[in-house]
Amino acid sequence: MNRIEETKIAVIGLGYVGLPLARLFSTAFPTVGYDRNSQRVDELMKGHDSTLEVSDELLQDAIKRGFSCTSQLEHIKDCNFYVVAVPTPVDENHNPDLTPLIGASEAVGKVIAKGDVVVYESTVYPGVTEDSCIPIVEEVSGLKFNKDFFAGYSPERINPGDKLHTVEKIKKVTSGSTPEVGAYVDAVYRMVIKAGTHLAPSIKVAEAAKVIENSQRDINIAFVNELAKIFNRMGLDTNEVLVAASTKWNFLPFKPGLVGGHCIGVDPYYLAQCAQRYGYNPEIILAGRRMNDGMGAYVAEQVVKLMLKQGIQVLGSHVLILGFTFKENCPDVRNTKVIDIIKTLREYNVNVTIHDPWANPEIAQREYGVEVKSVLPTARFDAIVLAVAHKEYEGIDLVPLQADKAVVYDVKSFLPPHSYDQRL
Ligand SMILES: NC(=O)c1ccc[n+]([C@@H]2O[C@H](COP(=O)([O-])OP(=O)(O)OC[C@H]3O[C@@H](n4cnc5c(N)ncnc54)[C@H](O)[C@@H]3O)[C@@H](O)[C@H]2O)c1
Repeated sequence: MNRIEETKIAVIGLGYVGLPLARLFSTAFPTVGYDRNSQRVDELMKGHDSTLEVSDELLQDAIKRGFSCTSQLEHIKDCNFYVVAVPTPVDENHNPDLTPLIGASEAVGKVIAKGDVVVYESTVYPGVTEDSCIPIVEEVSGLKFNKDFFAGYSPERINPGDKLHTVEKIKKVTSGSTPEVGAYVDAVYRMVIKAGTHLAPSIKVAEAAKVIENSQRDINIAFVNELAKIFNRMGLDTNEVLVAASTKWNFLPFKPGLVGGHCIGVDPYYLAQCAQRYGYNPEIILAGRRMNDGMGAYVAEQVVKLMLKQGIQVLGSHVLILGFTFKENCPDVRNTKVIDIIKTLREYNVNVTIHDPWANPEIAQREYGVEVKSVLPTARFDAIVLAVAHKEYEGIDLVPLQADKAVVYDVKSFLPPHSYDQRL
């Protein structure tokens, strides 16, 4: 194993997680970013990150200092510390899809040499690193695990679009395949993570810690979503109830909402499948998933009900959706649950117009087949749904967009009092 001064890092997968991390590592170590998507590599080497996680200024500065990105595997061959940050999605049946991790492990197997370390960052269930990834690295490289090469796992906790909690400011869990490797991996991360690290006793503990963090969030949001459904029937405003309850010191401040993206809405399925493999059927985890996955359709049905109450003819009506990305102030549309609102409204033959100043219209069209407008339309609508709390919607005047008796539904409790008919 190498010493800290000899560490040369390659980050594999330059997305929302990999790029900020690679840029950060490049402030303390020689670092190369590798992504099999050459278009992504080209844009980064031109000094722009379309995910907006790393500013052009920081990226260009890193490149000036020697940081480079490549889509050619041979360019990372002389590295000795490989960090894997590729996606871990689920398939259409919600089963973990390890294809990107397998591909990245094969790539590592082709370049890893004696004494090197591979650290996985992707969110997985306990056991994936050692039982699924490492055997691939061993097979492709012909090297022996924990003799010729070593491994670690250090889950990422960044929150896309959050410019406050950036990667160096979030405490990082680290781990290694032996106590010495754990200490080395931890020391490497400690060089760049200002918030410090927590060295977990094993790779499996570190893997489990990450997957439960996100599952805990999912379950808590599912609970408040259930409360929202109950209070709505009772004519109570959920947000007002939550504000009152939050005055207790240990009440957890979760809000109802759509759970999209590729972390909170995906990771619990990894945990659930792992539990099932061990003969345990997880009830709470999957109930949370069912509740949260149904919220888009619920919102749409609430809007339709409100329209009917107002005497608006739903068939052929026009509804404006404000926001399409999976969360506010972020261009990421992956696994956005706003699409469920749109699909359900369309089942009622509603004409849906979508506005989002952050989403890339081309990606929205390609991935979801919907037209997303970047500029607010001038027409009037029978209903408006504030679906994502982008900062551009702060103080927005909805009146010029409202037709007679129009309904305003606020999914995010974002609009000022008296400007909406109902909120989630
Ligand atoms: N985005 C987040 O908020 C977040 C937060 C914490 C953890 N995570 C976890 O981090 C991991 C990465 O997520 P992300 O959001 O950065 O994904 P992403 O889709 O933004 O980026 C992944 C990148 O990996 C590349 N890639 C895929 N397979 C590859 C391969 N075989 N070789 C080289 N490059 C490959 C893709 O081209 C892409 O650029 C996931 O496991 C995710 O669950 C994500």
